Amino acid sequence: MEIPNHVAIIMDGNGRWATKRGLKRSAGHLEGSKTLEKLALHAMNMGVKVLSVYAFSCDNFKRSPEEVTYLMDLIVKYFNTKFEKINKKGIRVVVSGRKTNLRPDVLAAITNIETKTQDNQNGILNICFNYGGQEEIIDAAKKLALDINNGLDMTNFTREDFFKYLYHDLPPIDLLIRTGGELRVSNFMLYEMSYSEFYFTNTYFPDFDKSEFNKALFMFQNRDRRFGGLNDQKSN
Ligand code: IPE
Ligand code: IPE
Ligand code: MG
Repeated sequence: MEIPNHVAIIMDGNGRWATKRGLKRSAGHLEGSKTLEKLALHAMNMGVKVLSVYAFSCDNFKRSPEEVTYLMDLIVKYFNTKFEKINKKGIRVVVSGRKTNLRPDVLAAITNIETKTQDNQNGILNICFNYGGQEEIIDAAKKLALDINNGLDMTNFTREDFFKYLYHDLPPIDLLIRTGGELRVSNFMLYEMSYSEFYFTNTYFPDFDKSEFNKALFMFQNRDRRFGGLNDQKSN
């Protein structure tokens, strides 16, 4: 069974999951955080090496102050309380996104979990927080410009080389999942998804359990990835 090396999830539909039940949107975010915990462990058990998740976009600051504060509090609580479990499983946590506009306690929680799990070898959980795909490319371009100013020779620079300038040097995405029914990528990992397979489902993220994840894996196994070439070597 071919397992994707890098899976990325746009965790959408928390708000609608809650509204449908007559609950506040925040209840959906809390439930979503529980789903993420189960899913991360399951994905690593299935052999996925890197799991990237979209937790908060740069554009999510457009939401009400109440919802933004809830999401900031949730990430701090999540990192501080789930650390033991994640660490025990040997998972390394990295956070991708801009460090500007974030509260000091959020920044401290990020540094803390990244530092404490940095030697773990059983898989990487990449949490995209205050993240934008175009912003990541701009930030990478700025780092590259510095190296060019310092004499980097660009003659043989490849698209693979550019990965080193992204927030973390992660492999390209093999399988991109979006829950919640929207058919768009909402400024997620634009550089990394160039040849990824897409899986869209109407299921709201809090309901996206192990069996839903396995459906996406199954679909992936039946895709014919060609990367611009031909798998069937016959030519006319
Ligand atoms: C995704 O769920 C989580 C975040 C964006 C933080 P939403 O909050 O976007 O849920 P819907 O799309 O409104 O249902
Ligand atoms: C994308 O969902 C961001 C996250 C899942 C964190 P949004 O709900 O913000 O995306 P749009 O607004 O529907 O494009
Ligand atoms: Mg949404």
